[in-house]
Amino acid sequence: MIISSVYNCPVIELPINHREKGNLTVVSNGKTIPFDIRRIYYLYDIPAGESRGGHAHKELMQLIVAASGSFSVVLFDGRVRRTITLNRPFYGLLVVPGIWRELDDFSSGSICLVLASHKYDEKDYIRDYQEYLTWKK
Ligand code: TYD
Repeated sequence: MIISSVYNCPVIELPINHREKGNLTVVSNGKTIPFDIRRIYYLYDIPAGESRGGHAHKELMQLIVAASGSFSVVLFDGRVRRTITLNRPFYGLLVVPGIWRELDDFSSGSICLVLASHKYDEKDYIRDYQEYLTWKK
């Protein structure tokens, strides 16, 4: 069973294939991350001052990567709040299930790449903060 704590959400250093012509990073199922990727999506063109997220997932695991630029991820597990700034494409924040998250401080032109363990399922979301606190108890 996965412990749903902010302390269980590490920043994973992803491998870099260095070349004179630039770098390449690969994320492989079962090797780099502890889940199989079933979906990817990315956030971009985020207006200055805007925040995203504001929900938790019951089952979904995600790896969040600043593919370009930077942003902050605020994690909350019902007891502890932790803020992580992502600003390089070779770091990925693993978010385990049951964590409330908000993303903000997006730099201009930033791209937030998300690798997810399941297909999109609105039933997996908890979007109401009070409901989340109750669910966590
Ligand atoms: P949401 O996950 O709430 O975005 P964020 O956390 O970045 O603010 O999703 C925003 C909208 O996009 C919502 O109406 C659901 C839809 N959506 C999909 O249809 N498929 C997906 O895979 C995702 C992530 C979102």
